[in-house]
Parts: sequence; structure tokens; C-alpha cells
Amino acid sequence: MQTLPPISLYIHIPWCVRKCPYCDFNSHAARGALPEAEYTHALLADFTQQLPQLAGRKLHSIFLGGGTPSLFSPRAIDTVLRGIDRLAPLAADTEITLEANPGTIDEKHFAGFRAAGVNRLSIGIQSLQDDKLRALGRIHDRTTALQAVKIAKQAGFNNFNLDLMHGLPDQTVADALADLHAALALEPTHLSWYQLTLEPNTLFHHQPPTLPSEDVLYAIQAAGHAVLTEAAFEQYEVSAWRKKDKHCQHNINYWQFGDYLGIGAGAHGKITDSQARCMRYMQHKHPQAYLAAQPNFTANQHPLTQDALPFEFMLNALRLTHGVTTDLFTQRTGLALNIISDKLTLARNKQLLIADQKRLCATELGHRFLNDLVGLFL
Ligand SMILES: C[S@@+](CC[C@H](N)C(=O)[O-])C[C@H]1O[C@@H](n2cnc3c(N)ncnc32)[C@H](O)[C@@H]1O
Ligand code: SF4
Repeated sequence: MQTLPPISLYIHIPWCVRKCPYCDFNSHAARGALPEAEYTHALLADFTQQLPQLAGRKLHSIFLGGGTPSLFSPRAIDTVLRGIDRLAPLAADTEITLEANPGTIDEKHFAGFRAAGVNRLSIGIQSLQDDKLRALGRIHDRTTALQAVKIAKQAGFNNFNLDLMHGLPDQTVADALADLHAALALEPTHLSWYQLTLEPNTLFHHQPPTLPSEDVLYAIQAAGHAVLTEAAFEQYEVSAWRKKDKHCQHNINYWQFGDYLGIGAGAHGKITDSQARCMRYMQHKHPQAYLAAQPNFTANQHPLTQDALPFEFMLNALRLTHGVTTDLFTQRTGLALNIISDKLTLARNKQLLIADQKRLCATELGHRFLNDLVGLFL
């Protein structure tokens, strides 16, 4: 492999104020004080162990996700980011994103995160209608969400994402559009617009709420796309919309099949070596198990076989609206493109992949039937 892929760092903070009924992330309701100092120490020990995997690369981006990273104090975030910078000096313009729940935020928090080096926020608004927020079991209401965005801006965060969901219990097209307009009025640079899914092992899966019909869901999608496009937002991935060039660099690296280290409970990583061998791993999932596992944080790891690589590459790359150049396939997997020529021809014949030989990109039909398209590369 001539050059190793770019490499990012994901940091998982596994606690929330309480568990939302739709959420299947590795998040746990905090009971009492968080073991912040202990966990911060473990994160840095975890990173130290993984340092050799950087193999001379600078970190492309950092993402503090959860759970609810904004539950941690600015001091703890500062300790983590400083420690990382000491071990692997960061470029001044490295994108550092932190996920924030509006219900956990005050002015001091946002200003402190900014001072600690966080330069991008992802705020979990979900909806700006109180009845929907209640139905989602959120800890915040509309007023709190608006206030959170206001103080984020006051703290100097001009680059921020809003997470918004649609297809919510009893939601009408008008409700969903009102949410979009209200979110756009907050002037985010990025919008993650997710359709609510009922995930196994969640309360909503066991006690499903009344969701909009397929027709309403389709109408929400179509009308929402028009509103976002009109507001000069560009869709660049299934659920991701950006203003101008303000895409999420961290997520782009996943979708372009880059490498990433994962530290923290249940964090995943993917590492390629100079022989183009690719390894996936996961850290111990439960916060207690993770803390108790020191110094061996990794619960399991497995190599990606040459048979699995094309599928894994496509699973990510074809989510991008404009796909990727064909060169990227070899750069990231170390495999010649001709090993999947038959599959590419089949996908093109089915009108699921565009006919351009220089790009790997789903057609409009391919984006609608993405699972079928990606399944061809299994
Ligand atoms: C890890 S959560 C992010 C931040 C923070 N914990 C919060 O909820 O405010 C990532 C985002 O995924 C989305 N999400 C979570 N579960 C979902 C589901 N079942 N269906 C659709 N979107 C979901 C939500 O928009 C959520 O903000
Ligand atoms: S706050 Fe976010 S991570 Fe936590 S339970 Fe709710 S959706 Fe999941």
C-alpha cells in the first residue's frame, strides 16, 4: 500500500441523564456522580496504547460522541484533548466535534468546551415541538433547545450541526416542515436529518408508538428535501446536509473508508497497515467493564478479509451523494478494481450505479434501494 488512509479519532462518553426510548447507542443512564477523573485517565491510557497504530499519521479529526459528552465538565474535556495533543500533536485546524444534549448545557459549559479546543458542536435538538420532544422522552423542551443554540453561538461556535429527526410519533408533513424551518432559522452550518427507526432492544421496539404512514413519510422526505435545497443546503450523504463546504470532516472520513482509532467504552476502530491488512476492533462495551479492563481495553478484534473488503468499502462510499473516484477503491483496500468488475457491471445494468467508469456513485434509484445495491458486493 503506497499511502496509508487518513486516520481520525473517535472518543466515546457512554453516559446520559436518562435513556431515550428509541436509542440503541451504547449509552447508560447516569446514576449519581460520573467517574469523570477515572474515565478521563482511562481514555488517555487507551489512546497511549493505540498510538503505534498512527504510524506517523497526524489525526485528521476528533469526534467526542455518546452518550452525552456534554455531561462531562470542560475541565475533563480539556484534560483529554490536551493529553491527546501531547501524545500526538494536532494540526491547528483539526476538526474537533463534541455532541451536546441541549438539556445538559449552560453558558460556562459551552465557553469551557471552546477554550478546551472543541471547534464544532453537534447539538441533539431532535424536534422543536414540545409534544414531539415529550413523545421522544427527551430531557429538553423547545425553549431549552433554542437557548442552547443561542449560548453556543455566544461562546463562538459558528460551525455547528443540529441533529433533527423526522417520522416522529403522530407527525404530520406540516409538523416536520415546521421543525425544519425552525431549525434553519437557527443558522446551523450542518443538519443531520434522520428518519426515526425502531431499533431492536429499545423501549419503542417493544412498545411501538404510532408512526406516520409510508405515504406521509414519503411526503415528509420530498417536501423536506425541497425546503433544505431552497435554503442552500446540499445533501452529501443519506442523512447529512451541509451549508457550502461545511461537511463533517470526521464522518466523511468514515464514508471514504478512512482509518479511525476508537477510545472509550464500546468504541470501534479500523486500522490498515502498510501491507493493506485491515483490522476492526471494539473496546469493552459496558463502562464498568471498560474501566475494570485496564490496561487491556480491547474486547475483540478481527481482520477484514479480502472477500469482505469490497462490500465494506461500498457500504460506506455509496452513502455519499456523489460517491467516490474509482481510484479510492484501490487506495483504501489495496485491491485492484477489476476483482469486482462483474459486480460493477451488474449494478450498472440494474441502473443502480452510474455508468461513469471513473466514479463509484449510486444513481437516484440506487440511493433509494441502497441495501440492494450494496448487497451486490457481498
Ligand atoms: C448519539 S446521539 C447524539 C447526541 C446526544 N446523545 C443527544 O441525543 O442529544 C446521535 C443522534 O442519532 C439520532 N438517533 C438516535 N437514535 C435514533 C433512531 N432510533 N432513529 C433515528 N435517529 C436516531 C439522534 O438524532 C441523535 O441525536
Ligand atoms: S441522549 Fe442521545 S445517546 Fe443518550 S439515550 Fe438519548 S439519544 Fe441516546
